[in-house]
Amino acid sequence: MPYSEHPEHIAYQNSLREIFKRIEPRPKNIIEFGTGEEGLSSTIFLEDKEVVRVVSIDIEDYSKLINDDRWLFIQQDTKKIVLPTNNLQKESFDLVYIDASHELAQTIYELRMADFLLSNNGLILLDDLIPSSPDSRQTASGGSAVPVEVFEAVIFFLRGSVANGNNYWFAFDPRNHGWGFLKKAPLLDLQTWS
Ligand SMILES: C[S@@+](CC[C@H](N)C(=O)[O-])C[C@H]1O[C@@H](n2cnc3c(N)ncnc32)[C@H](O)[C@@H]1O
Repeated sequence: MPYSEHPEHIAYQNSLREIFKRIEPRPKNIIEFGTGEEGLSSTIFLEDKEVVRVVSIDIEDYSKLINDDRWLFIQQDTKKIVLPTNNLQKESFDLVYIDASHELAQTIYELRMADFLLSNNGLILLDDLIPSSPDSRQTASGGSAVPVEVFEAVIFFLRGSVANGNNYWFAFDPRNHGWGFLKKAPLLDLQTWS
């Protein structure tokens, strides 16, 4: 399993592990956008022996990174995914982790895919919501990622999802690079008065 010695990677994995452990109900089927060259998040999810499947998608080829039967790597540009596909069926995942390009339009697209893929009790988790110093990691199209775009994407997504009859609770945890949580909550429940 890939574990990195880099202090930033250790802090990131510790923060993700701590958050992941607290998610209830426990996610069994997980999908992530953005495998990364170290596969740090996949590694954390696979630490939980109750996890059945981790599907990890990246534009680069990281297919040899992790040797675990529960891990399925798909090399694809998330912009080019058309749902549903064989391994990506409606409501078939209970955790969607978004950590790919961090670009505004693409993250909105990934959020819409997450909405399609997510089961009723599911959770969308996003990394890098805090507008800190420019990220040294490179995006697929070159140039550095601007983390604030992820926050903007969440706001766009929330407006759209209400219009489509869905509602999501949004929560934010400022630790590490800023975690975002989107949990499905039917609008009807919110509008019930007694
Ligand atoms: C921040 S890294 C992911 C880190 C990973 N989650 C981890 O914990 O190790 C972002 C990844 O997104 C990928 N990526 C960027 N643009 C993409 C796109 N359009 N489609 C798919 N993957 C993309 C990059 O190749 C990179 O590996």
